[in-house]
Amino acid sequence: MLKLLVNIDHVATLRNARSEGYPDPVEAAKVSEDNGAAGIVFHLREDRRHIKDEDAWGLKKAVKGLLDFEMGATPEMLDICSRMKPHLCTLVPEKREEITTEGGLNMSLIFDHYRDEVLPILNEAGVPVSLFVEPSVKDIELCAKLEIPVIELHTGTYSNATGSAQAHELERLKKAAIVAHENGIQVNAGHGLNFKNIRPFLENVPHLCEISIGHALIADAVMRGLPVVVSEMAQLIDSYNQ
Ligand code: PXP
Repeated sequence: MLKLLVNIDHVATLRNARSEGYPDPVEAAKVSEDNGAAGIVFHLREDRRHIKDEDAWGLKKAVKGLLDFEMGATPEMLDICSRMKPHLCTLVPEKREEITTEGGLNMSLIFDHYRDEVLPILNEAGVPVSLFVEPSVKDIELCAKLEIPVIELHTGTYSNATGSAQAHELERLKKAAIVAHENGIQVNAGHGLNFKNIRPFLENVPHLCEISIGHALIADAVMRGLPVVVSEMAQLIDSYNQ
């Protein structure tokens, strides 16, 4: 059954813009779960630009459904994740200077390092691993060689494409999902998905298990919530005039 996991990183981005302690990503996780999310994703970055360590542990305590810990495979993160034991650890390439995760892992480059040093740590801790990958058959075959149980297909290129380029990306995603499924790998997906591009994606790509969406949901929550909060405050202000 296909599940929605909500990425709450940008609730923390907004919280961090001030030091007021709100909005709280843990509260956002509870609201998401109360309204149909099967789980929560958070990315604890090396520079802690949005989610902080306290948020991560707060989420571990509060989230009732699936908890997906997204991270770069650094010794520090491997240690935190091994102690936390989330339902899933999604490994992503992480660059300090990037605005968001820019693409899937370079599988040929990381293959030996992951096989020898990264995966044994998470396997030992009993944390299932997902690799964030491009929709490339070659890369998925490398995941199969590493005996990875789950992949997350990078949908960012699809999400930003239009017309024939979008159709081409859908074809790549479909092929990648089929190859992963044939190799017994669970297929998750995410990045850049929104209310406009989700439908063709779901209609064309088979074997999907978990979809992770962050930025578009938080952005839409702001825009759709703004009428409610502005009118409530305007009424309050207006009561001064009565
Ligand atoms: N999946 C991965 C691996 C990501 O890095 C991100 C962004 O944090 C997402 C999914 C969610 O992407 P978006 O915020 O564009 O929905």
